[in-house]
Amino acid sequence: MENTEQITSMPRIGDKAPSFTAVTTQGNINFPADYSGKWVILFSHPADFTPVCTSEFMTFAKMEPEFEALNCKLVGLSVDGLYSHIAWLRTIKEKIEFNGMKNIEVNFPLIEDITMEVAKKYGMIQPGESSTKAVRAVFFIDPNGTIRAIIYYPLSMGRNFQELKRALIAMQTADKHAIATPADWEPGKDVIVPTAGSCGVAKERMDNKSEMTCHDWFFCTKPLPKEKIDLG
Ligand code: BEZ
Repeated sequence: MENTEQITSMPRIGDKAPSFTAVTTQGNINFPADYSGKWVILFSHPADFTPVCTSEFMTFAKMEPEFEALNCKLVGLSVDGLYSHIAWLRTIKEKIEFNGMKNIEVNFPLIEDITMEVAKKYGMIQPGESSTKAVRAVFFIDPNGTIRAIIYYPLSMGRNFQELKRALIAMQTADKHAIATPADWEPGKDVIVPTAGSCGVAKERMDNKSEMTCHDWFFCTKPLPKEKIDLG
């Protein structure tokens, strides 16, 4: 019973990112302390030398400069050993072509986690899917070390990396401009003004003919031009 609880326990949005030290393909890391002041995407993949994971690593590695420009570091993890990681990343660079990408070097750290210590801390082992492989988990951790968003995908499904970037930009924009983002928001589209918290503000909103568009007192949007958004 205790073991099952440990496997299935997972941090939640708003929690501090659980800390750990680990060996990675870029040396040892002390997480999240080493990343203080930066956003981090901590993600897991099921196994080295597997096709979906290979396509994902190539895509993430190609996009790494775009995430770096958004003050965001990438950290990967799987339940494999360091030498497997090194051999796989070398193979990717030397042999694999995918989606117009080739000669791709993965420069972000990939954690070795044979003991599953980190994977279990982050709820990446989901026994209904696999008790030996991590699912495709994505944790967005902000510069204060707080978990801000979590996305899980099954083993069979490669992630949409444009969506991961969009999510990061949406959270950074919400923080900077004190707004929220509506369904399918993309930079340049209207954003949501925080809901009125008093009758007076609700009335003002409905009377106000400023830059806001109020569909009703609780649902007001306003333009936020792309130029005001940090796109990296
Ligand atoms: C893959 O990355 O291709 C994969 C890994 C584990 C299970 C299924 C697919």
